[in-house]
Amino acid sequence: MSKNKARIVSVGHYLPEDRLTNPDLEKLVETNDEWIRTRTGITERRILKDPEKGTSFMAVRAAQQALDAAGVEAEKVDAIIVATVTPDYMFPATACLVQKRLGAVNAFGYDVLAACSGFVYALSTGAMMIESGRYKNVLVIGADKMSSIIDYTDRTTCIIFGDGAGAVLLQPSSDESGVIDFIQRCDGDEDELLCMKGGGSRYPASHATVDAKMHYIAQDGKTVFKKATEAMADISLEIMKRNNLTAEDVAWLVPHQANQRIIDATARRMGVGNDKVMTNIAYYGNTTAATIPLCLYDWKDKLNRGDNLILSAFGGGFTAGALFLKW
Ligand code: UT7
Repeated sequence: MSKNKARIVSVGHYLPEDRLTNPDLEKLVETNDEWIRTRTGITERRILKDPEKGTSFMAVRAAQQALDAAGVEAEKVDAIIVATVTPDYMFPATACLVQKRLGAVNAFGYDVLAACSGFVYALSTGAMMIESGRYKNVLVIGADKMSSIIDYTDRTTCIIFGDGAGAVLLQPSSDESGVIDFIQRCDGDEDELLCMKGGGSRYPASHATVDAKMHYIAQDGKTVFKKATEAMADISLEIMKRNNLTAEDVAWLVPHQANQRIIDATARRMGVGNDKVMTNIAYYGNTTAATIPLCLYDWKDKLNRGDNLILSAFGGGFTAGALFLKW
């Protein structure tokens, strides 16, 4: 392993103020608070209501907070990676908008599209940039304005997703802390099970795509649930085994927040007690690429140097990723 391990030196976040609660959803679709809580663990989500503001608005705030927490000036940033499925535009990349608004005049940047595994993929990419020795300050951001691609008449999806952003700053580590290992997979066999078909080159926006609701997220929830439960547990166990980690060695599991039942099943298979699992799905719902950095932000004051963290995610693609880091 390279001697330039990448360490998370600071974390930032942004959550819109507006809350969409389960009782609010009861007014939009045929659902109820008890069903949503017992099937998903969600009680409310944050929504970026301002139609003039896209994902970059949240990403910039999260990134600025991470820079401020580390005391690093924007011009010191070498690279910006934004994981998102809801970029402001098809192009230019959201990372370029973030670069401009931060004043990160020396940085380059691009977006990573790996749905709910996006933050893990982006973090591993950023870590390799640091490990190469070429870069010293890399911003990794997970941000999604899911409300921009949700059909609020579809009760199978609108209850799940929320908006938010989280960011970490990576620097070379001077000790044992940092990103140690990661495993990443994808399986494009069943791309129809979780997708947004409209707006790309295959189905460019047209009256027909709008009429067919192709600019909204669509999923086969039951199948995705089953696959997510298996994949997140498998990949988390695999990274533990590969690094000779027992459940006792794991200080924190940081799972993607898709469904409380998926999180519980993953922890159970790993043998990790609930007291060592970061969960905030109750308050934010599934914010796609933002769930993991939002957990890191919420838990940052409880983390101790040297804690072993396992990050684990599964999402559209299908994509999956597990990452082992020492805090
Ligand atoms: O981040 C990665 C992407 N997404 C995921 O990981 C999501 C994975 N999937 C899930 O979290 C769950 O499958 C859902 C939360 C989407 C659904 O929960 P479920 O326990 O799998 O429910 P189901 O789809 O099996 O539906 C059970 C029943 C059905 O009624 P019948 O056919 O049994 O009469 C649904 O029509 O619940 C009904 N239903 C609802 N009822 C009240 C579905 N959605 C709702 C709703 N409120 N919002």
